[in-house]
Amino acid sequence: MATLSTAVENLSAREREQRGEQLKSEGVVIRTYDLWKTYIMGDQEIHAVSGVDVVIKRGEYVAIMGPSGSGKSTLMNLIGCLDTPTKGLYYLNGKLASEMEDDELARIRNKEIGFVFQTFNLLARSSALQNVELPLIYAGIPTQERRERAREALRSVDLEQRMHHKPNELSGGQRQRVAIARALVNRPSILLADEPTGALDSTTGQEIMALFERLYESGNTIVLVTHEQDIAQHAHRIINIRDGKIERDEAVRH
Ligand SMILES: Nc1ncnc2c1ncn2[C@@H]1O[C@H](COP(=O)(O)OP(=O)(O)O)[C@@H](O)[C@H]1O
Ligand SMILES: [Mg+2]
Repeated sequence: MATLSTAVENLSAREREQRGEQLKSEGVVIRTYDLWKTYIMGDQEIHAVSGVDVVIKRGEYVAIMGPSGSGKSTLMNLIGCLDTPTKGLYYLNGKLASEMEDDELARIRNKEIGFVFQTFNLLARSSALQNVELPLIYAGIPTQERRERAREALRSVDLEQRMHHKPNELSGGQRQRVAIARALVNRPSILLADEPTGALDSTTGQEIMALFERLYESGNTIVLVTHEQDIAQHAHRIINIRDGKIERDEAVRH
């Protein structure tokens, strides 16, 4: 990997662009080359992500797993374009995200990534339907189409009958399903979920994992971040990270 990374870093701007087109044509949604995120704390350097090379293809269902402090959230923030690397390259759906300025990064994030968080992050005063419509408002979709697409997304998580309910009128599992519908409504390239069952009881957690499996089967690309082995086991590939490095990367047999 090291030689390949070095090679890519030495490519001209045009060659980097061509590399992106090639990755996209090969169905690679996520490709990092020697990715680093280093924090300076006083006179100490903390390498939260430390030379990560990863390839994730369209239609994969991958868990990023590791103990607390191993760099999962930092890596997820880089993959989700919420943060930029200290060093290295990151291609998202053929585009070189590691070189982007904040506004361009915000745009690619809205278009390509659907986020699901542990704590749902729904607007409390808005109905399920309004919550799911929100990303479509940012994307400038007209009202009628917005309603229809939000409804359809809620139908895909079996919540159409609850679409006029507010978050406090829904159970934890139903709230997370609304958040998943919101993440899907823009038809993103990847669904990125950070500890999506962390705030749920185990039965409800299992229901959410069953929903992810269904979404995977219907063609969605899923990246799941978790510190729990039995949650990670639902994915079809597990990338284990430790001290900011990939320790193991293996397929899961089901
Ligand atoms: N903003 C930050 N400033 C300094 N250090 C950080 C920051 N964010 C994370 N870290 C450090 O980077 C390492 C990885 O953290 P994190 O990505 O949150 O791990 P995980 O999500 O696996 O628990 C930890 O040592 C953490 O203390
Ligand atoms: Mg974390």
